[in-house]
Amino acid sequence: MTDFTSGFWTWFISLTTIASIVFLFVFLLKFSKKRAPGEKSETMGHVWDENLEELNTPLPRWWMYWFLITIVWGAGYLVFYPGLGSYAGTLGWTQVSQLEEETKAANETYGPLYEQFKNTDIEKLAQDEAAIKVGERLFASYCTTCHGSDARGARGFPNLRDDDWLYGGDPEAIKTTIMQGRAGAMPAWAQILSEEDIFNVVSYVEQLANRTVDETHASSGKDIFMKNCAMCHGAEGKGNPMMGAPNLTDDIWLYGGSQKKITESIVLGRNGKMPAHKEFLGEAKVHVLAAYIYSFSK
Ligand code: HEC
Ligand code: HEC
Repeated sequence: MTDFTSGFWTWFISLTTIASIVFLFVFLLKFSKKRAPGEKSETMGHVWDENLEELNTPLPRWWMYWFLITIVWGAGYLVFYPGLGSYAGTLGWTQVSQLEEETKAANETYGPLYEQFKNTDIEKLAQDEAAIKVGERLFASYCTTCHGSDARGARGFPNLRDDDWLYGGDPEAIKTTIMQGRAGAMPAWAQILSEEDIFNVVSYVEQLANRTVDETHASSGKDIFMKNCAMCHGAEGKGNPMMGAPNLTDDIWLYGGSQKKITESIVLGRNGKMPAHKEFLGEAKVHVLAAYIYSFSK
């Protein structure tokens, strides 16, 4: 508990807490006076709705006792647990130590299981029901924010269930993607190509995806494509998993396939980032996740 930079807040919090408890206790005593035998409740002089009067009847005993118990409980809690400024409590409990203990217990329970998973081939693991269940849970905790709870992705976040891969769909490629992360680098062409060139190359990209387009635009677009784009997307536009350049012929789009969206991809460039998970999750968990994702294609 060294979060306080001066002693002031420690005193402020401790005194406010203790003063509140003492105040409540005194307040309770004041209103717990027994009535003298024969004494009647008197009105406090407050009347609502014509005849609803406030009387000075004492609080019920059982209610008072419950209140006392909570005060004693609270005082006890403050002795044993941290609650008064930087006072650590006699038990020495902290959130950090609890987390550490729970992590240690979890590692002891699941460590051997993960070790066994890690030593199994991803292809084989993808058929192991227990491993897939674990993978599903890991995916739900760490991957759904970006790839969606059904792993079908969203604009800019690839669908992991289709058999279309930016970086390759074999077990090792999937594992490398998750371990090391990936950074897609599609340059922006706004400063390099004229508007007309961009219009033409968009036509050619649409033709690659088997759409009917104006032939003259598409054929000038093809020249531009061969000069500027083929080195990454391949001469046939089928993509290159070495750099995550998408296949442009399959009509599956990471950033949307309308003419407007394709133009936007080319004009502005795209830089999708898949974060690395090696340090964060450790190799064993990544291994299970890779098997889970590989299992989609089975
Ligand atoms: C912060 C968002 C984010 C999180 C979290 C995230 N991903 Fe990704 N992931 C991406 C993006 C973006 C890409 C595409 C990268 C690109 O465009 O080059 C990607 C790509 C991938 C690919 C490659 C797909 C392909 O077609 O080759 C796999 C596999 C993958 N992620 C699995 C996972 C798994 C498993 C997790 C959970 C451990 C995860 N991702 C968590 C954003 C994320
Ligand atoms: C340096 C390599 C490189 C070059 C050169 C390049 N691209 Fe790309 N392109 C990529 C990568 C990588 C992506 C994926 C970006 C991501 O994952 O965020 C991409 C994405 C795209 C997309 C979006 C695809 C989708 O599924 O939404 C289109 C369209 C595209 N490129 C067209 C072109 C055109 C046309 C050219 C030439 C004018 C070109 N690219 C040049 C690497 C390149």
